[in-house]
Amino acid sequence: MKPVLSPLALSLTAAAVLTLAGTLPAHAGEVEVLHYWTSGGEAKSAAALKAQLEKQGDTWKDFAVAGGGGESAMTVLKSRVVSGNAPAAAQIKGPSIQEWAREGVLTNLDDTAKAEKWDTLLPPVVADVMKYKGKYVAVPVNVHRVNWLWANPEALKKAGAKLPTTWDEFFVAADKLKAAGIIPIAHGGQNWQDFTTFESVALGVGGAEFYKKALVQLDQATLTGATMKKTLETFKKVKTYTDKNAPGRDWNLATAMVIKGEAGMQLMGDWAKGEFVAAGKVPGKDFLCAAAPGTAKSFTFNVDSFAMFTVKGEGKIAAQKHLASAILSPEFQEVFNLNKGSIPVRLGMKMDKFDDCAKLSSADFVSTNKGGTLVPSIAHGMAVSSAAQGAIQDVVSQFWNTDKMTADEAVTKIAAAARTK
Ligand code: GAL
Repeated sequence: MKPVLSPLALSLTAAAVLTLAGTLPAHAGEVEVLHYWTSGGEAKSAAALKAQLEKQGDTWKDFAVAGGGGESAMTVLKSRVVSGNAPAAAQIKGPSIQEWAREGVLTNLDDTAKAEKWDTLLPPVVADVMKYKGKYVAVPVNVHRVNWLWANPEALKKAGAKLPTTWDEFFVAADKLKAAGIIPIAHGGQNWQDFTTFESVALGVGGAEFYKKALVQLDQATLTGATMKKTLETFKKVKTYTDKNAPGRDWNLATAMVIKGEAGMQLMGDWAKGEFVAAGKVPGKDFLCAAAPGTAKSFTFNVDSFAMFTVKGEGKIAAQKHLASAILSPEFQEVFNLNKGSIPVRLGMKMDKFDDCAKLSSADFVSTNKGGTLVPSIAHGMAVSSAAQGAIQDVVSQFWNTDKMTADEAVTKIAAAARTK
């Protein structure tokens, strides 16, 4: 039997249809999003993106692949693309965006970019990375700073230690924490975490010019020089202050050790702040943030972004565009970055809701950009090709994990790995 609607119900239905038509984009569809944001703070951030998209009437198909730093996610992505079944959007960063674009599998976002003036909304250093042959193929979400040191103030107090600003002070503080029975450094022994520590040590020991020559330009003379050897020795010394359960530990579990006061400090990018905040901790009171030792005047940046793959079907294409424009909306930039620990990538955003760590990051991003000490993070895929990155990372981790390799041998092996094409 056909349902009979009263005139009132009919007019209500018509009104509802009109309202929907007025607020929702013409075509709604599904977007499959590959990401690796699965820890507490990260999951909240991913949920904010999903909510933003669903507000526009689209459907979010979650494709989360756990594993900090995204190595597993990238392996899964490759097999999906090779089998002709790419997700609409994937969390891809830095030079890898170009590598994927060269394969001809990314879509052109210039319609949306032009209409929404992305060129004026984004710092050129970021916009350039999002383009392939002058056309946008990816959209950035945030700016993470990698060269941070996180600390538990209670633990420092108990040990009579102060927050270090140089590597010498770092080892003094680490000795005091050790003497007080507290694990000095919370570390997760996974290759990308070893590499994250390594790049902060390199920046602190050698400075931004050294970092650029060695880890961005991969200059052989710098890679084989005395500063590189000193970097490796300092890096290996950091290991002596980690605990025996570090191998394999996830980064967020290392952060949890600092939250609980089991460990005093952690060297990690500011996604760690997302964990402190998700645990209800207040910066400046329950935890401290400071530039990694010796790096206060520099900034290793790590910009998360979503590359968009070519998809078929009107709904899917429309939804993909909605996602791209939602990402750069001021509303989303604020809520996402408050949860993620990063700062907005969109220029001119108000920072009043952000904490002092984020405000410092924001001010330093601008000043280091002017001063030439804003450098791309090699450990987080911003500096060199993925092949060279992987090869150098492997040697750095081998050196961290075995006592058989000397610093001189590591220098030679890293220089060779840097020639990987
Ligand atoms: C970084 C990524 C961050 C965070 C972190 C841990 O490479 O840029 O967003 O997810 O890894 O997984």
